[in-house]
Amino acid sequence: MRVKDRVAIVTAAAGAGIGQAIARTLAQEGANVVVTDVHPRRCIEVAGDISKTTGREALGLQVDVTNHQQVDDMVKQVIARFGRIDILVNNAGINKLAPVWEMDDETWDLVINVNLKGTFMCTRAVLPGMIKQRSGRIVSISSVAGLAPEEEGGTHYSAAKAGILGFTRGVANEVAKYDILVNAVAPGFVPNPFLARIYPAEALKKLEESVPLKRAQTPQDIATATLWLVSDENQSVTGQCLCVSGGMFMH
Ligand SMILES: NC(=O)c1ccc[n+]([C@@H]2O[C@H](COP(=O)([O-])OP(=O)(O)OC[C@H]3O[C@@H](n4cnc5c(N)ncnc54)[C@H](O)[C@@H]3O)[C@@H](O)[C@H]2O)c1
Repeated sequence: MRVKDRVAIVTAAAGAGIGQAIARTLAQEGANVVVTDVHPRRCIEVAGDISKTTGREALGLQVDVTNHQQVDDMVKQVIARFGRIDILVNNAGINKLAPVWEMDDETWDLVINVNLKGTFMCTRAVLPGMIKQRSGRIVSISSVAGLAPEEEGGTHYSAAKAGILGFTRGVANEVAKYDILVNAVAPGFVPNPFLARIYPAEALKKLEESVPLKRAQTPQDIATATLWLVSDENQSVTGQCLCVSGGMFMH
């Protein structure tokens, strides 16, 4: 019960990967969770299942993290239902491979907006409440692609994930005086059924083989690291990036 009675928002939490694992883990550890995602039906289904299996309250909300209005409405609805927001996990991320010289503006904007601007918009929306209550925890999901070269065709993704790290340090510094801790987690390779739609099979095989621990990471590995960062056990780590990559990136 490491986050007992906390109110946590997790973005992009209705998929098959990291976001859902984080929402579920926070609920298992006592939090009331808000499962947000662009996909409306899956939000409701995943929230219902989390509530049923953990006994905690779980609210499903359709939120596109790039939509200013939807992000502001999300915060209003969560405050109306729970009265406060203690934890935000910026998990929403997307990739669409294209070499720089062939990349159109739409592809660049999509990847930067979902990964980086969405992180900014959700963080901006929850901070006034956290500042007022003088407490809060924010974790944004970056990637080792923000620290080391990404697969060919992923420069926009690398730029966005590196941007999240700069943003994390900047916000952490701005809100430290309110006892709000802001960190990033950088996963390495965390297979899920949808990755095969973005990356060629050969690239996925190469990625897995490049992990020094000789195994891919799981959504639960990322959720466990996130849980510690947002729990009371963490009193002093802020502005950091925790790589959960089986050693794929070391720093
Ligand atoms: N899977 C990996 O190997 C890996 C590695 C490094 C970093 N990451 C990062 O981890 C995070 C989670 O990735 P995952 O692969 O586990 O997938 P996930 O299941 O956690 O997230 C996928 C979900 O994102 C939702 N989504 C897409 N666009 C959205 C938007 N604009 N607003 C809200 N929701 C949106 C989709 O509907 C889907 O349900 C992402 O930020 C990703 O970039 C993943």
